[in-house]
Amino acid sequence: MPPVATLASQLESIGQSKLAIYLQGATGSGAQLLLDEISKFNLEQVATYIKQYGSQFVASPPDETISPAPYFALNDTSWDRALYQSKGEELIKAGKVACFTVAGGQGSRLGFNGPKGCYPTSCVNNKSLFEMFAQTIYANQRKYSTTIPWYIMTSPLNHEQTQSFFKEHNHFGLDPDNIMFFQQGVMPSFDKETGDLLLSDPAHLATNPDGHGGAYKALHVSGALEDMQSRGIEQLSYFQVDNPNAKIIDPVFIGLHAFSPESSAEFSSKMVAKASWNEKVGVFCRVGDHLAVVEYSDLPEELAQMTNEQGELMFNAGSIAIHTISVKFIDQIATDPKYALPFHRAVKKVPYFDTQTGQHVDPSEPNAIKLEQFVFDAMSLADNSIVLETDRVEEFAPVKNATGTDSIITSKQLQSQRAANWLIARGVSIPTNPDGSVNATIELSPITALCPEDLDSEQLPDAIKPGSSITL
Ligand code: UD1
Repeated sequence: MPPVATLASQLESIGQSKLAIYLQGATGSGAQLLLDEISKFNLEQVATYIKQYGSQFVASPPDETISPAPYFALNDTSWDRALYQSKGEELIKAGKVACFTVAGGQGSRLGFNGPKGCYPTSCVNNKSLFEMFAQTIYANQRKYSTTIPWYIMTSPLNHEQTQSFFKEHNHFGLDPDNIMFFQQGVMPSFDKETGDLLLSDPAHLATNPDGHGGAYKALHVSGALEDMQSRGIEQLSYFQVDNPNAKIIDPVFIGLHAFSPESSAEFSSKMVAKASWNEKVGVFCRVGDHLAVVEYSDLPEELAQMTNEQGELMFNAGSIAIHTISVKFIDQIATDPKYALPFHRAVKKVPYFDTQTGQHVDPSEPNAIKLEQFVFDAMSLADNSIVLETDRVEEFAPVKNATGTDSIITSKQLQSQRAANWLIARGVSIPTNPDGSVNATIELSPITALCPEDLDSEQLPDAIKPGSSITL
């Protein structure tokens, strides 16, 4: 651990003299805490980020070469779905596939005080998102007689709470040896004008989680990557904690990703047709030689609204944030500087402790820069990335907002609709409302069925009563 004087002189050399002076005058246990915290960062690297993303920041102009990404369309029969399904199943049965969930976020946007994965989400029994995923993993392990390890990325905001939640629920019947929790890193926030690093209180830097793109580094430093390699895991099925309909083990997608001649088997993605031009989803595009996700906030409005001769959106491939990523590719991104991901910059209100006046300041205007990395920026680093279209109801029922779009109400409707579709396919009569939506609440446990065909061995009712709430 460098002594105070050494660290202060390093801070001076990167232009952080206010913090250097404060550190030299600080006393007691708080001073040691702050010293330890600052020492964890690579200060030269921090200085580079401040220079690049601080007051001198110039946003790059939209890439002129941008065009819609090609994808494997839902109803395209020109490729052999059954072949890739069986190839994907072989990988799963051989224990070469693991699940990976990014769960660093809190439920605050939902008005829920806790990790988002603990949010009660299933239609009837209010199972948490974590429980729904755990049961899906359990059912897949049973179906394929295999082990599917589960890697869960938390953040400093919710690491302890997430682990306690799993312990309280006996890991939902899964073997705890096959679940690994690890924390994403943080980035220091800094003043948007001066570039000064900010303190949240006299003993701590103001920091923010480094985005889900921090996963690559976190998988490496936590030992999770090594754990995967020692277990012989080759591919990771990646999904966000907010989507209960995610088909978290999809043999067709895994097989296509790993074996299609069009794929370099490094980073593949799923899309759905956008619900509207301004739906808040990233869009798969071709930028230069590579495919990329352009985040909704970055896609110029005239491109987002552009339609073809049939009146369909040109930039229609909405990202549902489901990917298959190879362990080898993750290793490269995490360890090879050639594959460094960019940062995304947000100007936010960050309360801070003023080291010169000794006062806490609650800014009324955005005063600071927060930097984050995005998992999907690795897409353009892959040699050949592929995108597979899927059905919206089948795989996308996100819970993001307290009310309105992507809320618990819309998510439950979509979960019920998916269950109804599976039952209809097995001959069950389902009541509908005048607008065609399901007039019942149906919770279909993954333990009962992972796909409509699994219902063939179940005793199903002939019809569901209008307005009823049922669990199968
Ligand atoms: C995200 C995608 C968007 C996609 C949409 C699909 C981003 C930036 N955008 O939007 O392209 O179309 O989902 O639903 O991701 N998380 C962490 N650590 C962090 C930040 C986020 O683990 O530091 C996790 C959250 O727990 C959540 C997920 O990442 O599971 C998504 O983050 P969020 O910021 O909610 O992204 P969206 O705006 O919903």
